[in-house]
Amino acid sequence: MTRPVITTQRLELRPMTPEHLPLHRELDTDPAVMRYLLGRSRTAAESDEFWAPRCAEKIADAAGLGWWVGFVDDSFVGWWDLGRSDSEPGDGVKLGEAEIGWRVLRSQWGKGLAPEGATALLHYAFETVGLDRAWAETMAVNTPSRRVMEKIGMQHIATEVRDWDDPLPGSELGEVTYEITKADWTHPWPQIISITGPR
Ligand SMILES: CC(C)(COP(=O)(O)OP(=O)(O)OC[C@H]1O[C@@H](n2cnc3c(N)ncnc32)[C@H](O)[C@@H]1OP(=O)(O)O)[C@@H](O)C(=O)NCCC(=O)NCCS
Repeated sequence: MTRPVITTQRLELRPMTPEHLPLHRELDTDPAVMRYLLGRSRTAAESDEFWAPRCAEKIADAAGLGWWVGFVDDSFVGWWDLGRSDSEPGDGVKLGEAEIGWRVLRSQWGKGLAPEGATALLHYAFETVGLDRAWAETMAVNTPSRRVMEKIGMQHIATEVRDWDDPLPGSELGEVTYEITKADWTHPWPQIISITGPR
């Protein structure tokens, strides 16, 4: 199995490849986008260095997992991932479960795009890949991302305060973990339109 193209009402999620490397600069050089991730923007060079091995990564493809870049009317809006955001390039994949994540351009916030793409990925995870569980993690103070988790039917299962060498503001309130199992998956929105072969 390789990652398919997944189409929703508004989004086309395409498997991320090296051709998408420059798109990350627009996201990662925005300090608002990176506020709860690094606490600062990346430079373009840092963005390229971080994303080049991830764009080229193929290991997760065997399990149908990895990163997808999202387009609305052929314009890039952000990325979504299943099973890779907690990994280093080259790591193997876990069986039966995957972390889910998202990052959307600031100009596109508030339109419900993150939950739309994530719902489609959950549908794909449970109905096509055959996962039993998806989980997501963020800083407790990252209300927008927690709202996405709630909107797609995930449940808050843990809050953990961790020790960081260079803590971000709000880290004293901890990191939250949410999950959804296949048994709890109720197809909240019938937004997925098609899952097609590799592009
Ligand atoms: C988290 C994120 C993906 C949400 O994407 P989105 O497509 O805007 O999602 P939604 O439209 O469903 O909005 C979710 C919440 O974001 C917040 N939000 C909406 N518009 C916003 C705006 N213009 N500015 C700030 N926050 C906004 C609201 O809390 C909203 O919840 P609500 O619909 O109950 O009011 C996006 O904010 C983002 O990319 N943030 C930076 C990267 C990040 O933190 N990723 C997650 C790391 S775990």
